[in-house]
Amino acid sequence: MANVVVVGAQWGDEGKGKIVDWLSERADVIARFQGGHNAGHTLVIDGEVFKLSLLPSGIVRKGKMAVIGNGVVLDPWALFTEIDKLAAQGVAISPENLMIAENAPLILPLHQDLDRLREEAAGASKIGTTGRGIGPAYEDKVGRRAIRVADLGDEETLDARLDRLLAHHDPLRKGLGAEPIDRAELRAKLLEIAPKLLAYAQPVWKVLNDDRRAGKRILFEGAQGSLLDIDFGTYPYVTSSTTMSGMASTGTGLGPSSIGFVLGIVKAYTTRVGSGPFPTELDDADGQRLGERGHEFGTVTGRKRRCGWFDAVLVRQTCAISGVNGIALTKLDVLDGFDTLKICVGYEIDGKKYDHLPTAAALQAKVTPIYEEMEGWHESTQGARSWAQLPAAAIKYVRRIEELIQCPVALLSTSPERDDTILVTDPFAD
Ligand code: GDP
Ligand code: IMO
Ligand code: MG
Repeated sequence: MANVVVVGAQWGDEGKGKIVDWLSERADVIARFQGGHNAGHTLVIDGEVFKLSLLPSGIVRKGKMAVIGNGVVLDPWALFTEIDKLAAQGVAISPENLMIAENAPLILPLHQDLDRLREEAAGASKIGTTGRGIGPAYEDKVGRRAIRVADLGDEETLDARLDRLLAHHDPLRKGLGAEPIDRAELRAKLLEIAPKLLAYAQPVWKVLNDDRRAGKRILFEGAQGSLLDIDFGTYPYVTSSTTMSGMASTGTGLGPSSIGFVLGIVKAYTTRVGSGPFPTELDDADGQRLGERGHEFGTVTGRKRRCGWFDAVLVRQTCAISGVNGIALTKLDVLDGFDTLKICVGYEIDGKKYDHLPTAAALQAKVTPIYEEMEGWHESTQGARSWAQLPAAAIKYVRRIEELIQCPVALLSTSPERDDTILVTDPFAD
């Protein structure tokens, strides 16, 4: 079974976009299955930079089918802005190479309002969301009051959906000191964009099942990261979707038996954007250096990412939960030039040792990482395209990570550029 799921194994921004773009050469279909335009995926192809948020990273290659599955929350206006931006870079997008699940719920301006109002009201305890309306849109989905893509095809249905939605949002807004929704304006906006969006709408579950039967290779592109997962992440400082591999099935409509390989994307150190616990966070010169060398600024919001040492405890945990078969280790080059590197191999909380991150927030707040020190390297690994080009100390670092997380390296990335990638095991191989 040659279908592959890519998931971020840390707090997002592991380099999923680069790896999905590289792997998409071997795939026929590339499908997003969760999240929305809170994602920011940067690809560098022969020096040209492409930034994607909602569109699957495979869209930049000709002859591939890109899919936005039902597990995604879709902002139709953001979608067409992104399509136009890519068109200006020479990437033609039409229903020929993009399809959207009919049952995908929409993100509306009212979701962005609510996201912002809640964050403002939370003050110091804010989550630090991307402000894209992701959480409120998922709330409406599970609250059974979302407007979904297919609802735009019939005015009567749309009216009923709007009534139900506004009956919830207007009182909520009132409580937060905001004006009620201008129903006529929202309705008009939706009807205006409806034909454009519906041109892409498909029963994705059916198309993907047909594709599978026809032997096509499907690549599932996860967004965010495992530690931002709604169940297994550092709750409540998480995103509002399931970011683990299991979501690839329910977020597209292709059963788990069709998934052959789960590839976890792992940065050679750790970063996080937004609030929440981060055991190996550094606020010293080493953290500064990681941020500068790794250009750790968010693609979506431009926020500075928090940086820290590699945390093997967390990655072992997330690889287990997603059933990761192999990892793509990225940004190894960022570690060039350190005299010593540290890897977190366990935690100590109130004098007790832990081999996993406990769920209780009170315990998470008291974690002291247990570090193992490793020798760094002064040679450059940047742009290396084979193991032979890597210094012995770098290979030792990679091997130690494999051992600690109990998962082999399938791919290694040594620069933002597409082809600066070392293949160890082909995730698509049968
Ligand atoms: P994503 O959200 O997981 O797709 O990751 P982002 O694109 O938000 O962040 C990863 C950043 O690191 C991007 O700017 C990539 O171009 C860059 N990147 C990816 N792989 C490597 C690598 O191996 N080395 C370096 N130096 N940069 C990389
Ligand atoms: P990619 O796909 C890193 C974080 C936000 C915030 C929390 C909740 O580029 O890896 P949300 O807007 O989703 O409600 O914000 O999740 N976050 C990400 N952090 N990479 C991402 O995506 C993220 N998407 C959301 O910073 O802490
Ligand atoms: Mg990102």
